[in-house]
Amino acid sequence: MSKYNFGIVGLGVMGRNLLLNMADHGYAVAGLDLDKEKVDSLQDEAQEGHQIFATVEAEAFVKSLEQPRAIMLLVPAGNPVDGVIKTLSPLLDEGDIIIDGGNSYFKDTDRRYEELSAKGIHFFGMGISGGESGARRGPSMMPGGNREAYERLRPIFEAIAAKVDGQPCVEFLGNGSAGNYVKMVHNGIEYGIMQLIAETYDIMKKVYKLDNETIQKAFEQWNKEELNSFLIEITADILKKKEDGKLLVDLISDWAKSKGTGKWTSQNAMDLQVPVPVIDAAVNMRDISKYKPERIEASRVLVWDNNANAPIADIKHIKEALFFAIISTYAQGLAQLKVASDAYGYELDLETVCKIWRGGCIIRATLLEDFRKAFATNADLPNILLDKAIAEKLNSTQSSIRTLLKDVIEQGTPASGFMNALSYFDAYRAEHLPTNLIQAQRDYFGAHTYERVDKDGVFHTQWDQQN
Ligand code: 6PG
Repeated sequence: MSKYNFGIVGLGVMGRNLLLNMADHGYAVAGLDLDKEKVDSLQDEAQEGHQIFATVEAEAFVKSLEQPRAIMLLVPAGNPVDGVIKTLSPLLDEGDIIIDGGNSYFKDTDRRYEELSAKGIHFFGMGISGGESGARRGPSMMPGGNREAYERLRPIFEAIAAKVDGQPCVEFLGNGSAGNYVKMVHNGIEYGIMQLIAETYDIMKKVYKLDNETIQKAFEQWNKEELNSFLIEITADILKKKEDGKLLVDLISDWAKSKGTGKWTSQNAMDLQVPVPVIDAAVNMRDISKYKPERIEASRVLVWDNNANAPIADIKHIKEALFFAIISTYAQGLAQLKVASDAYGYELDLETVCKIWRGGCIIRATLLEDFRKAFATNADLPNILLDKAIAEKLNSTQSSIRTLLKDVIEQGTPASGFMNALSYFDAYRAEHLPTNLIQAQRDYFGAHTYERVDKDGVFHTQWDQQN
């Protein structure tokens, strides 16, 4: 009996779509799910020519696979991943590969990698981006683990991945949990850009008093220009969608849930001491959005009597402000990847990361090709803001974000994504920061000592004694 080339555990939307994508490319694929309905519905979806087998039994699933086996898990992050590994590992042999395709926390991946390596099983943490349609038609995939074992997975992943200029949006990224880490930061950037787009929509409405149609048309146009990206494109679609003659977005409540990857990005950035203020702001804003009753109360107590007239809208300036802020967000996430790569020994190549983010994933954008070029010119670039071509884009659009923020502040509309995008730029380009005063304060109250610009050494002063 001929065996199946690849196995997928978890036949929810992502698992089913990836499995069908593999089957489209001529691979024989087996699926496992405890839910009989999901198993049956997969069989129903199979098209002519597909070689698919699905079961609820782990043993039958494992036996159906050619050796060494390659099994991808598409189950919710956390305990379910450990549960499946516990069920499968006694049935597996040395040299088999398990790939976790979920949004797992990278430290869990490190632990699983160690545990499975001890049994001779290769473990990959592989971020997959692109949602359900990406999984079906071509996602961006971010695998990390063992480089040699990856060679066995390469053909199938390259076949099913999104393509940009004929190049697949998948590449081995690095050791251990590199794949999950890169996907986590991808999601952090996703949070940042989504927040900036939401602020843009709000500012256009509340500060510049533009109507829905004008806002929608602007996003549609921007997607044809240098802001071209998946998130701008879907925003233009969302702003068109009506229900009973009303814009659907206006009927949606103004608070949003989150599954945790944005928060993890911020938390780990703090651990690594890398500033990612737009991502932090995006996480904060989702949190504050959930304080609806308090916000309603506060809206009556905390008032700003703004007598200024609505400023004149300039769509080009709004676009440039968003463009500036989005670059600032990517810069923060990519800088975090650089520091994390050194801290965790991932050996990431940021040109490769930008290359595989150009298609398939949620943060895909024309700009990614500019960032890829920046790392192609200088692989050690600590921050894309130092690349001449990128710096030029920011220098030429900064006046627009400054004007936008003046209007926003005057009107009292929240825009912490935009504010943080600009302050990051202004802090990063500041040759002198007021941190000398902070050194002095620490030394004053805690004798923490300080360093000086005029001589070497470590100093302490009795600050409260007069000269
Ligand atoms: C992707 C998405 C995907 C998922 C997010 C949503 O790359 O395809 O990022 O992973 O939609 O996890 O995250 P929140 O629920 O935290 O917004």
